[in-house]
Amino acid sequence: MRKTILITGGSSGIGKSIGDFLVEKGFEVYGTSRFPKKYTNSKFPLLELDVADTASINRCVKNLLKKVDNIDVLINNAGVGITGPMEEIPIEEMKKNFDINLFRSNSND
Ligand SMILES: NC(=O)c1ccc[n+]([C@@H]2O[C@H](COP(=O)([O-])OP(=O)(O)OC[C@H]3O[C@@H](n4cnc5c(N)ncnc54)[C@H](OP(=O)(O)O)[C@@H]3O)[C@@H](O)[C@H]2O)c1
Repeated sequence: MRKTILITGGSSGIGKSIGDFLVEKGFEVYGTSRFPKKYTNSKFPLLELDVADTASINRCVKNLLKKVDNIDVLINNAGVGITGPMEEIPIEEMKKNFDINLFRSNSND
């Protein structure tokens, strides 16, 4: 049976490349994007997900589990970067970066 793989941030960059590769290898791949409708040429389905929003995470997993029996592999790739001198980066931007890359959610659970 084909393994099901979920890749967060499958719309561009590393996540998209991994997804394209795994599709070619015969896996059942699902990716995510905050704006899935923007990406009409994806080789695998993109589900809506914002990793900084708990409700969005729950909705995404619930929707995927309606299509597949289980998720065999999660590639937790979605993230953002900041470049530039630390002292010039607004604190709100830093907090947003940590929420997306580290805390992954806006709740305490
Ligand atoms: N490239 C590098 O040199 C490098 C170095 C160190 C670490 N990384 C890490 O590797 C990962 C991939 O990097 P990349 O270079 O491929 O970046 P990228 O091309 O900018 O892609 C980032 C992906 O993450 C998604 N994403 C961004 N914010 C999100 C959010 N709040 N919720 C859900 N998805 C979100 C984007 O999807 P949408 O915009 O469609 O939602 C996109 O698919 C990131 O975690 C990055 O921090 C990259």
